[in-house]
Amino acid sequence: MIMKRWLVVAIILIGLFSVSEGRELRIKHGDYNHIYNHTLAKILVEYASAVYMSDLTALFTWTCSRCDDMTTGFEMIELIVDVQNCLQAFVGVAHDLNAVIIAFRGTQEHSIQNWIEDLFWKQLDLNYLGMPEAMVHHGFYSAYHNTTMRPGILSAVQRTKELYGDLRVMVTGHSMGGAMASFCALDLTVNQGLRDVRLMTFGQPRVGNAVFASYFNKHVSNAFRVTNGHDMVPHLPPYYSYFPQKTYHHFAREVWLHNAGLGSPVLVTEKICDGTGEDPNCSRSVSGNSILDHLTYYDVELQAEMWGSCRIVTSDKLMQYQMDGAGNIMMSKNPTAATLSAQADPGISSM
Ligand SMILES: *[C@@H]1O[C@H](CO)[C@@H](O)[C@H](O)[C@H]1NC(C)=O
Ligand SMILES: *[C@@H]1O[C@H](CO)[C@@H](O)[C@H](O)[C@H]1NC(C)=O
Ligand SMILES: *[C@@H]1O[C@H](CO)[C@@H](O)[C@H](O)[C@H]1NC(C)=O
Repeated sequence: MIMKRWLVVAIILIGLFSVSEGRELRIKHGDYNHIYNHTLAKILVEYASAVYMSDLTALFTWTCSRCDDMTTGFEMIELIVDVQNCLQAFVGVAHDLNAVIIAFRGTQEHSIQNWIEDLFWKQLDLNYLGMPEAMVHHGFYSAYHNTTMRPGILSAVQRTKELYGDLRVMVTGHSMGGAMASFCALDLTVNQGLRDVRLMTFGQPRVGNAVFASYFNKHVSNAFRVTNGHDMVPHLPPYYSYFPQKTYHHFAREVWLHNAGLGSPVLVTEKICDGTGEDPNCSRSVSGNSILDHLTYYDVELQAEMWGSCRIVTSDKLMQYQMDGAGNIMMSKNPTAATLSAQADPGISSM
């Protein structure tokens, strides 16, 4: 009897939410209509996975073991490696999507367990520039704004524009890379004035408070945060529903991947969550107790081949790359056009 009822629930859920590839769900929210595109999510998660690869030559030439399948034909424009801070990102063009893709790697320098435990204690310790009440975490903010990431990405986006004109921009990343992707998408919209910037992140932590979240959604309205089952990271740093204005607060819109019940093969459904960013019926309805759920999204592995190192592999013969005084690396399609000068960040002077 109980089994039967579960079956009915499962069937209803399957009916409600898209389970099959290529099915689209339309979301109505306020004055815009954004579509969560399952196919696009599966493509972008492959970019978010590839950016973890440590063989820079294979990554740059898009011949790495994760550089195939739905990302075949990607044209790399710039690969940026911040050696000091162990950060990695790339910018390139997906001609099939008619889009610039920007992907950020997640953390790699410590064990993932330690990194996740540290997330509990992150403070809202920085005012986001131009928004007195908007608070964010200084560390996440700085990883994008106060490293080689930002100047490298902005110059590559500019170069892409010169090569191909105005393409839409899709920013992606997993875990900490999702946090950086969020700051990047906001920066491109607010400070660079780009019109069509879309964000899709996987298993990202919270990055700011409720005021920041509403500011974010106003500017980057085409934003999806995909969460998976019991993945711990989207639960952190903690949100307390008793103090929704004081604590960290996710921006919208979450898409929660979860098992709709019983048996095998396990059916994964995608739940499109509400416009608050903190839908109690999405990932918040379960406890965030899984690291495993953090490392695989849509059956795609989202971690480095090995942890605990900031390993870089290059074959000098094949590739030309530039290195700045601090040992940071920029590989460019057109090396002479790459700028390595540490540009002053307008966001830094105010703090
Ligand atoms: C979803 O994304 C795929 C890949 O970009 C695209 O071919 C398809 O047309 C999209 N569907 C909708 C409804 O936009
Ligand atoms: C969550 O789901 C319950 C039923 O399971 C429903 O009554 C409630 O309205 C939902 N809450 C939100 C915010 O959607
Ligand atoms: C930016 O980074 C430098 C060194 O990495 C550090 O000394 C400085 O305090 C940082 N500035 C901000 C505003 O975080």
